[in-house]
Amino acid sequence: MNLTKYLITVRQTHVALITFGIFIGFSFNFLFETQTFRTVVKVEVPKDGNCVAEKLFMEVTVLCWVLTYPTNHRQKASHIQRTWGKRCNKLLFMSTETDDEIGAIKLPVTEGREYLWAKTKEAIKYIYKHHLNDYDWFLKVDDDTYVIVENLRFMLRPYASESPIYFGCKFKPFVKQGYMGGGPGYVLSREAVRRFVEIALPNKELCLADDEGSEDIELGKCMENINVTAGDSRDINGKGRFFPFPPKHHLNPVWIGSDSWYWNYSYYEASAGVNCCSHNAISFHYIDPEDLYVLDYLIYELQPYGINQVNDPLDMRIVERTSVTGD
Ligand SMILES: *[C@@H]1O[C@H](CO)[C@@H](O)[C@H](O)[C@H]1NC(C)=O
Ligand SMILES: *[C@@H]1O[C@H](CO)[C@@H](O)[C@H](O)[C@H]1NC(C)=O
Repeated sequence: MNLTKYLITVRQTHVALITFGIFIGFSFNFLFETQTFRTVVKVEVPKDGNCVAEKLFMEVTVLCWVLTYPTNHRQKASHIQRTWGKRCNKLLFMSTETDDEIGAIKLPVTEGREYLWAKTKEAIKYIYKHHLNDYDWFLKVDDDTYVIVENLRFMLRPYASESPIYFGCKFKPFVKQGYMGGGPGYVLSREAVRRFVEIALPNKELCLADDEGSEDIELGKCMENINVTAGDSRDINGKGRFFPFPPKHHLNPVWIGSDSWYWNYSYYEASAGVNCCSHNAISFHYIDPEDLYVLDYLIYELQPYGINQVNDPLDMRIVERTSVTGD
């Protein structure tokens, strides 16, 4: 692991300590582990040669935060940390107990499924307070979501983080402009986070003040009330990039039955089978911990010999997104 690259997202207050650490070398590793663990997230910068990914890593910075709870720290969160989570510019686990091993944050809320809305509000407040100016985008996911972070950056690149906008798997009911399902995750611009905390949360006319409520629908309503656009996350071919089920469900033409809520809830027309999903897909929900490693291997390691991957040009964004101003 290249230590200097490691340091890109480290909080400034620790820079002095860590610079010292570099000179001393790995013998002082325990210092990092014990004293700065919570701020030294093991970020994996794209390897040399992956120039485009490396460029996007610097240009489109993403803080990922995972909604979890104490029982899942070992069972799920730690596996996210070892797989896709390390590709975020910063990775945080929002919980109700601290945990030095995964750097979990203890939020001041009651634990329980029915309080997810309270936890989400506290998590975004925490991010606002500690990280708002450090990153451009803020991705929320569950602890059973898999994310292809490079594709997230590719989708976000055309947008300024000063635009009031957010993206995810857009569902139709309950909110006029649609809302983003919680499981596949949603990504808020810096401006969306700012408005949420400064304008929406203090005003119960704009945002549900109770602790209980459906996290994703309530967030969607708040966003609409503060004029944060529910963005279109489809690719240039109109295919979705955030998915509420694992790939094997979307790829099977019959797994998601024709009577499933999915078809009615999807804001844009969805399809099942081999054409279900963008080749720049961003997230899948309901991924077992062991399948995080399977996906990591299939996406990042396995290569069909002799076949080169051809990326869409970055400039495709201009064609794709000229109509969206975000305001
Ligand atoms: C949202 O837009 C409406 C209509 O333009 C405006 O009346 C309202 O003040 C805006 N609200 C916020 C929080 O920006
Ligand atoms: C989906 O919508 C159609 C038409 O509005 C309705 O007939 C059907 O019952 C709905 N299905 C589900 C699962 O909600």
